[in-house]
Amino acid sequence: MHSLNVEDMLRMAETPIFWVGAFAVASLSLWVLHRLLQGFRIWVWGNGQLLSPKLGKWAVVTGATDGIGKLARKGFAMILISRSQDKLDNVARQLEEQYKVETKTIAVDFGLSDIYPKIEAGLAGLEIGVLVNNVGISYPYPEYFLHIPDLDNFITNMINVNMTSVCQVRVLLLLSKGVVLNISSASGMYPVPLLTISPPPPVSSHPVTQTLNVNGRPAHLKYSVS
Ligand SMILES: NC(=O)c1ccc[n+]([C@@H]2O[C@H](COP(=O)([O-])OP(=O)(O)OC[C@H]3O[C@@H](n4cnc5c(N)ncnc54)[C@H](OP(=O)(O)O)[C@@H]3O)[C@@H](O)[C@H]2O)c1
Repeated sequence: MHSLNVEDMLRMAETPIFWVGAFAVASLSLWVLHRLLQGFRIWVWGNGQLLSPKLGKWAVVTGATDGIGKLARKGFAMILISRSQDKLDNVARQLEEQYKVETKTIAVDFGLSDIYPKIEAGLAGLEIGVLVNNVGISYPYPEYFLHIPDLDNFITNMINVNMTSVCQVRVLLLLSKGVVLNISSASGMYPVPLLTISPPPPVSSHPVTQTLNVNGRPAHLKYSVS
């Protein structure tokens, strides 16, 4: 019985290696195709048709400052939720003058946890098409965790503004139909030196949104992540 030489062994391994390689290339190609189609759905198809008042007359934006003109331009009546009433009045007036849309304002501090009945009352009876969870805060400056001034309040504030606000989408679950857009920060995706409690949207709201998409979403609601 002659022993196998290297050439024989390579010949025997050729077919399995071919199929492993073919499987890897096919998986990678499918993954790239999936990402491209997802990008097309969100940025080309989704942008034009999906986000329109057909979803519901009103768009709700938390932390309502820049960028919201885009929603008003699409014809949404706007509900602005933020902290300072004078700033809210200013933005509401601008939107009404520029885009001829209806506006409502709700002044609340997302750093507090008892604000949600007020928000719920403000939204009651309105057909809401879009909720933009935009409010989010970060550090005023990078700092060692234990050196942060007034650390207890800092932690509570960060969690309430960045996480509780997103988890409280239950208000929207009661509404007829629509889309939830969670605004994220790339700095929440990786550990960043001196930003121990990073702005958590990608870490917190994406799983919240994704999990709701799978097992908590009524059929009439569509969630989106950004
Ligand atoms: N700016 C960036 O470079 C950047 C980068 C990545 C991701 N992001 C994300 O983008 C989103 C918006 O960021 P931004 O920089 O545009 O925000 P921002 O300018 O700091 O704040 C925008 C709005 O948030 C409101 N707000 C802040 N704290 C609040 C609180 N405790 N209660 C109620 N409203 C509050 C402000 O209202 P008042 O003026 O009345 O306080 C203001 O209307 C955030 O989710 C952030 O994580 C931002």
